[in-house]
Amino acid sequence: MSLMRSIFLRAFGRPRGLLGKVGGMIMARMNADCGEWVTERLEVEPDDRVLEIGFGPGVVIQRLSKLVPAGRVAGVDLSQEMVQQARSRNAAAVQDGRLDLRLGSVEHLPFDADSFDRALAINSMQVWPDAMAGLREIQRVMKPGGRIALGFTRHSGQPRGEVVEKLAVAGFTNASLVETDEWFCALATKPDGA
Ligand SMILES: C[S@@+](CC[C@H](N)C(=O)[O-])C[C@H]1O[C@@H](n2cnc3c(N)ncnc32)[C@H](O)[C@@H]1O
Repeated sequence: MSLMRSIFLRAFGRPRGLLGKVGGMIMARMNADCGEWVTERLEVEPDDRVLEIGFGPGVVIQRLSKLVPAGRVAGVDLSQEMVQQARSRNAAAVQDGRLDLRLGSVEHLPFDADSFDRALAINSMQVWPDAMAGLREIQRVMKPGGRIALGFTRHSGQPRGEVVEKLAVAGFTNASLVETDEWFCALATKPDGA
């Protein structure tokens, strides 16, 4: 692996150590607008149960918590540093038990089948070791009819053309892409009976 890629992964991909701490602070500022845009595309209802994978510093989690006053928000991230930053940013909701932020990987989610109405991941799928395994596992924990959004900034490294196809291959239906010059987002539904 090149030195640049290794630095990039430590700062942003799977944040660790000092680089990861700084990377989290940068992402909290740089990705907030994209996070807001993707969250709006997901059309969250006040009583939804929502799951975010790869929540990073927890800025979108903070927004989601406000959007579902009668629901619940959970998140899973592979980085201990990001779990700490997100828990600290959302300390009140974590303490109240309204927010469940866990260390873990998308391929093995610690939730029962058919648990969530909405799921999202922003700037994350491109660094998962096995994107298809991750998408299938997200689908397992989503309720039939539930909606998923995979959002990306232009600089994420994720090719725009691949995301809709990946969702379809993973078994989601009605997959579509919405995009601006800066951001793009693939949306899809978990079919009944899946
Ligand atoms: C580029 S950061 C994006 C963070 C945040 N969503 C944002 O847009 O600012 C990627 C995030 O995905 C997490 N991540 C990477 N691989 C993961 C995996 N296999 N399972 C869960 N999270 C993962 C990283 O720890 C990191 O927090």
